[in-house]
Amino acid sequence: MKLGVNIDHIAILREARKVNDPDILNAMYVATLAGADQITIHLREDRRHIDDIDAKNIIRLSSIAVNLECATAITDIVLELGPNRATIVPEKRQELTTEGGLNLSSAELPSSIKAMLEANIEVSLFIDPNLDDIKAAKELGVSTIELHTGNFANAYLMAFSNLSKTKFSIKSLEKQNIKEIFEIELNRLKSAAKFAKNLGLNVAAGHGLNYQNVGYIAKIPEIFELNIGQSIVARSVFTGLNQAIKDMKRLINEA
Ligand code: PXP
Repeated sequence: MKLGVNIDHIAILREARKVNDPDILNAMYVATLAGADQITIHLREDRRHIDDIDAKNIIRLSSIAVNLECATAITDIVLELGPNRATIVPEKRQELTTEGGLNLSSAELPSSIKAMLEANIEVSLFIDPNLDDIKAAKELGVSTIELHTGNFANAYLMAFSNLSKTKFSIKSLEKQNIKEIFEIELNRLKSAAKFAKNLGLNVAAGHGLNYQNVGYIAKIPEIFELNIGQSIVARSVFTGLNQAIKDMKRLINEA
């Protein structure tokens, strides 16, 4: 199974001071040498971390594939940048991170997908793990989907970590039978991956995956790639980026 390392959070640290430290290109080189199979970056509308110059340099200089997460609003920029893959995600200005899968009936999607495919950019759609969305993605003509693992990850945090005892607990999940929800979310991902693979789609997954929960998802045979950012960069504060990526690769390979 492949690992796409999302290096956005390195740029968050840089933006805290608006100086080129840490250098995002160093992160790209270290991630590549540590065994990442792909560099994943998200060019957000508000440019809160990765900016256009980062994206341009990374796509030009990376020796491994670059997966650019983007909203349809920046299709023209994506066409100019020419990443190996564009993963289309929904975007809201106020959100801390992507909160769910795409609305596949959105009017802008077909023309964005068409333009990207015509420019030889592989297109992936970031979607919730439900069968209707998978069918709709297939009908939109893409080769790849990325299943949103955020609900699974939230359920894991509430059920098996100390999160529910902290001020960071996920309020919407506090009163629920959380272990049952965890099982439901995991099974939803398993069925979705199988269904999508049977339709001939390449199935990636990502969001909220970390060193504790990754094994459950890495075991799903139909998934070929995981995109992971926050937990790897958080761990790298203590171990360095190289070790953090190697640790994640090992967990994925051993699952
Ligand atoms: N995949 C997609 C489509 C995302 O939007 C993100 C977050 O930018 C990730 C994967 C990585 O999520 P995390 O930082 O929670 O590992």
